[in-house]
Amino acid sequence: MKITILTLFPQMFSGIEHSIIKRARENGKVEISLVDFREYTKDKHKKVDDIPYGGGNGMVIMAEPIVECIEAIDPKHQAHRIFLTPAAPTLTQKRVTQLSQKKNLLILCGHYEGVDQRAIDLCFDETISIGEYVLTGGEIAAMVLVDAVARYVDGVITKGSLDNESHTNGMLEHPQYTRPREYRGMQVPEVLLNGNHKEIEKWKTEQSEKITNFVKLIEKEKS
Ligand code: ADE
Repeated sequence: MKITILTLFPQMFSGIEHSIIKRARENGKVEISLVDFREYTKDKHKKVDDIPYGGGNGMVIMAEPIVECIEAIDPKHQAHRIFLTPAAPTLTQKRVTQLSQKKNLLILCGHYEGVDQRAIDLCFDETISIGEYVLTGGEIAAMVLVDAVARYVDGVITKGSLDNESHTNGMLEHPQYTRPREYRGMQVPEVLLNGNHKEIEKWKTEQSEKITNFVKLIEKEKS
């Protein structure tokens, strides 16, 4: 999969230069390029933002550098183009798996108060929010999206690891334990030690239901 990220802050992306994503990039499973769209402004001072029409706080990123940049790097509109903004449908695991099937993604990170809507209307296929809160910019959101999607690209993670994890079948994952058997007086549940696979599976299902119902209850209380 090829992922192109349009950002004014490419230095922020060291977060996806480690661990599993690093290996996926080295193995050629995921190719990530960062494009600083400031380079596409025609302004001699490389200005990319201006005050909002109609008044309001902060600055708005102008349409021109974004549109010029996209026309230069994806002239045939081969990439599925995503604009990251809090004013959008929230990312789900289902959408993550769907996006992992795309060969080519282009992601725009907004910053400041927003982006001139005409750039979005002209160039983008989809808007996504990573959650019901506002970040200072789309960079961290882009890292979240790339990390979540890259895990599902074929060959990035062993298949089995993706099967029973949280959010895949509407259930959350059971707790995990590793050595030692006792830590600060707390024991690993006996059932995990007895080698009875049927009982272990039953325990995992029960625990999974328990945590799922607990989280649902908390979510319900919040709304
Ligand atoms: N930019 C700022 N906040 C965001 C959010 N919650 N999701 C996506 N992009 C954002």
